Amino acid sequence: MCGIVAAVAGRNIAAVLLEGLRKLEYRGYDSAGLALVNGEGLQRLRAVGRVAELTAQVEKTRAAGDTGIAHTRWATHGVPSERNAHPHVSGAAGLAVVHNGIIENHEALRSRLVAAGYEFTSDTDTEVIAHLIALELKSTGDFFAAVRRSVSQLRGAYAIAVLRESDPDKVVVARQGSPLLLGLGEDGSYAASDASALLQVTRRIVYLDNGDCAELTRGHCRITRVDGTPVERPETESRLSADAVELGRYRHYMQKEIFEQPVALSNTLEMLGTAHSIQPGLMGANARALLADVRQVLIIACGTSYHAGLVARYWLEAIAGVPCSVEVASEYRYRDSVPDPQTLVVTISQSGETADTLAALQHAKALGMTRTLTICNVPESSLVRETALRFITRAGPEIGVASTKAFTTQLAALYLLTLVLAKLRGRLSEQAETAELELLRHLPIAVAKVLELEPWIRDWSERFAMKQHALFLGRGLHYPIALEGALKLKELSYIHAEAYPAGELKHGPLALVDREMPVIAVAPNDALLEKLKSNLQEVRARGGELYVFADADSEIAESDGVHVLRLPEHYGALSALLHVVPLQLLAYHVALVRGTDVDKPRNLAKSVTVE
Ligand code: M6R
Repeated sequence: MCGIVAAVAGRNIAAVLLEGLRKLEYRGYDSAGLALVNGEGLQRLRAVGRVAELTAQVEKTRAAGDTGIAHTRWATHGVPSERNAHPHVSGAAGLAVVHNGIIENHEALRSRLVAAGYEFTSDTDTEVIAHLIALELKSTGDFFAAVRRSVSQLRGAYAIAVLRESDPDKVVVARQGSPLLLGLGEDGSYAASDASALLQVTRRIVYLDNGDCAELTRGHCRITRVDGTPVERPETESRLSADAVELGRYRHYMQKEIFEQPVALSNTLEMLGTAHSIQPGLMGANARALLADVRQVLIIACGTSYHAGLVARYWLEAIAGVPCSVEVASEYRYRDSVPDPQTLVVTISQSGETADTLAALQHAKALGMTRTLTICNVPESSLVRETALRFITRAGPEIGVASTKAFTTQLAALYLLTLVLAKLRGRLSEQAETAELELLRHLPIAVAKVLELEPWIRDWSERFAMKQHALFLGRGLHYPIALEGALKLKELSYIHAEAYPAGELKHGPLALVDREMPVIAVAPNDALLEKLKSNLQEVRARGGELYVFADADSEIAESDGVHVLRLPEHYGALSALLHVVPLQLLAYHVALVRGTDVDKPRNLAKSVTVE
């Protein structure tokens, strides 16, 4: 949600800021803006829409400066418009601010600032920060101190970067709850919401902690806590490959990421090496002690990551014999639940910055559940830092807003967790362990074979493109896969899609079925196939057109109104990882036919860092 870039360098940094914004555009893309300081003062440019619009303005006005801050926005307070786009300024003080997060006490602050004579020109919560710093500057006169005093009055989440006309060689940043890191370059100091924005200038990265503030000058970064106490934060070398965030031969990031799944899975499973056994250490140091007497598992996540949790529940109960509940993070923290300290709390998140998931984890810990594990794709993220154990999926950066390779690698991680718990509980024989390892090692090849179905799925997508609604059906652990298929379709193509466990059809949703309603069925050759076939008959009998993703050996015949695509092999408990792939491809191709913005669907953002 919103991306920030800031720079203090000994050269014009407008192009660096714009390139950084392009890399961060996946975080929000309603509007963009920047502020630069040069010999002539502070210059601000803002544009509704994409970074390309802002770039055109910068080129047209030849805006330039050695120091600058920039922002790409996902609207929370105030509609996407130029007046609400960042940076926000406190004009008389010559201050400009960019912000990611939500200031919860902005109304109270606004009233105070209005009473003090400040004039507001936007509907955002961010503008209070600019005026608050201006007010504090009146009493301290010191820019860094004024920012620290101001952020100590903010409630909520923020990452900010601030520029002052009369301090032209300085940027001040602060972080609480929203991500922010520093980049130490050859020719200057930088800050950004994530490292991909800074690879163009440096790989030397310093991650800020919550409650950190920093003053950036060309050759130095001074980090303190909000009260001014100096702190040291370790420098790390970013290993992010520049190629990983480039499109290469693909048309869209989503397409690239779908096709990267075999590699993402083999990287994620690489730590198994040639091992003959599954060790608890896969989940982090001290895992054996923390997991040995776990009584139940509580999974907390949002969106696609939540669907991964729903699949895992089937595995954890059936294979490891551990009771498991799965909670939508934004609901869990606001209900009265019954905590058990012997619960393993598992958070799942691609970004590791999802505000709802972070808050739910903190809530669980506050209830005394300290055995925590996160499954995450970003090693330096907030969630990873907050849990006792961690499994880092190695999907590589996921840029498309729709989560694809993150999902399948999360599933691989959750399956490993299931096997670890099964083994600790004496439910995994040596023979079974060897068989499971073989199955996991073959998984990338199995997924690669499923990807070969793309041409047939492309044909199917033509028939979906004109539909207004779609129904997805699955049973058992393929019900969450149906949910994921429906989420992908609505997110990308804006077609209304619903998913049901197929047995629920006759309890209501069957009323929706007619010739206009395509029904997509996930039909692997498992123990529930015969039951599912009966449910599909119910659809057919009402004129519904069926699109069935079956396995090579599922006995489902093509007929009038029944279209069948077969996945190459049945993959047992791991079949969910294969069956989600054609649903991702279907959503992608339907979106292409409908001409929607595949990588940046309307109203969404990749990393949801606000509640
Ligand atoms: O980064 P996270 O995995 O925590 O994100 C959770 C959801 O916001 C995310 O999965 C979202 O549902 C995706 N856009 C779905 O494709």
